Amino acid sequence: MPEQMTPLKDDAASGTTPAPPCTLVIFGAGGDLTKRLLMPSLYNLAGAGLLPEGFSIIGVDHSDGTDQSLRDTLTKTMEEFSKDPTSEFHAAHIDPKSWGFIRDRLHYLKGDFEKPETFQAVKDRVKGSAVFYCAVAARFFGTIVEGLGQAGLLKQEEGSFRRVVIEKPFGSDLASAKALNARILKQGDESQFYRIDHFLGKETVQSIMAFRFANGMLEPVWRREYIDSVQITAAETVGVEERGGFYEPTGALRDMVPNHMFQLLCMVAMEPPNSFGAEAVRSEKAKLAEAVRPIPPEDAVRGQYGAGTLEGHSVPGYRDEPHVAGDSVTETYIALKLAIENWRWAGVPFYVRTGKRMTGRRTEIAVLFKPAPFKMFEDTPTDDLGPTVMRITIDPDHGISTEYNVKVPGPEMKVGRVRTAFKYSDFFADTPNVGYETLLYDCMVGDATLFQRADNIEAGWAAVDPLLKGWPQADIPLYPAGSAGPKEADALLARDGRHWLGIDGTTD
Ligand code: BG6
Repeated sequence: MPEQMTPLKDDAASGTTPAPPCTLVIFGAGGDLTKRLLMPSLYNLAGAGLLPEGFSIIGVDHSDGTDQSLRDTLTKTMEEFSKDPTSEFHAAHIDPKSWGFIRDRLHYLKGDFEKPETFQAVKDRVKGSAVFYCAVAARFFGTIVEGLGQAGLLKQEEGSFRRVVIEKPFGSDLASAKALNARILKQGDESQFYRIDHFLGKETVQSIMAFRFANGMLEPVWRREYIDSVQITAAETVGVEERGGFYEPTGALRDMVPNHMFQLLCMVAMEPPNSFGAEAVRSEKAKLAEAVRPIPPEDAVRGQYGAGTLEGHSVPGYRDEPHVAGDSVTETYIALKLAIENWRWAGVPFYVRTGKRMTGRRTEIAVLFKPAPFKMFEDTPTDDLGPTVMRITIDPDHGISTEYNVKVPGPEMKVGRVRTAFKYSDFFADTPNVGYETLLYDCMVGDATLFQRADNIEAGWAAVDPLLKGWPQADIPLYPAGSAGPKEADALLARDGRHWLGIDGTTD
């Protein structure tokens, strides 16, 4: 374990000034997202001094309540989450000053998202700049934006802003995503809509741009001539939990691929943008996503977890989870082979897999380099030398490691395999983070770099559209909970003479 090191140079200057005064209106104040992620993130932002004095929060929801009841409920959930080691927000204690800053600014408004009176009531209370956060089920996104637009709440006066944050899922296929974009863009300008993908709130994901574009060493080899293939994995050990109702019509493909997995894909494969400005970055991402060939069904493998053993405990199969049909054919695992049709990546397969109840938790991008060009080591055929593999690990560890071949010490020229690894925590202090801090702050300061533009969203859906249309409804391979996925997914790579890297971080 390396000792804690100081970054050799830390140019971080951004994010140090408080956001401009504004009101944050949260639709869905009684929901899980507000409790689990938004409040802890606001608390962390307050602790970092990044919220302005002129900041207030209005929570809107349909049940009865008062400012005081909202404050009491959220204080209680903050305390509970801080003590729960499995929650995103696990803190030694709650700092009364930071939480007091948030608590005293919380207000409640009872309202039905489908009624114009609700938006009139919001209008009576909101003056100046505002961020409207749709922390609600997806079916309300369009309704809320229309309510805001029709009440005149999206008109931006000189010197103030009106922005809307929209959660995922943004549509359920290409046609519905396009329809939702068209619907909201009737009410405001694209620059007012902040479509969230929480993977972009992860520091390690944001850092991929710096890693690729702040180092001259990588760019020359980051292309088809030197890279054999790329594997993008998001393996989870959790099952569907209480979300069967949402997950049944959704499945792993819609839940993870056109959004989260495509964000990772874009970060690792897009062309260098002209700047880190929001439009420059998002244009490069759109260009890359649009270059992904629509995925033919033969390049996709689905699976569903059956009963199995995970971390020493027996766990039920998906079909036995609450709110799931006993004969469900919804996929909880998907593996894909993507082809990027552009000059840099032609012929380099990007294998993508994601699944629930897998043997381990690992979100990672692994870049596999081409082998050395000829057999120089007599006792070790070049074919047996593993490839140089660079892994950008996003969860549960945050870091980058590279595996390559060196000489084993001794009189003979024998080749052995080693790994050099860097962890963010070895160099940088851990800042309290549940994942939404940067996103909320960026929205308040008007930096849309980490949010999805309409064309980014639509390009993701366009790539998976043939699968959604041509999906075989019957018969889905089962994999035991606690495994690495269905064997059919191994065959997807084996037919190209490749194999998946281990979910435990091994290469073989
Ligand atoms: C969510 C999906 O968007 O992302 C969940 O709806 C999934 O099904 C989650 O578990 C994964 O996010 P993370 O940050 O835990 O890797």
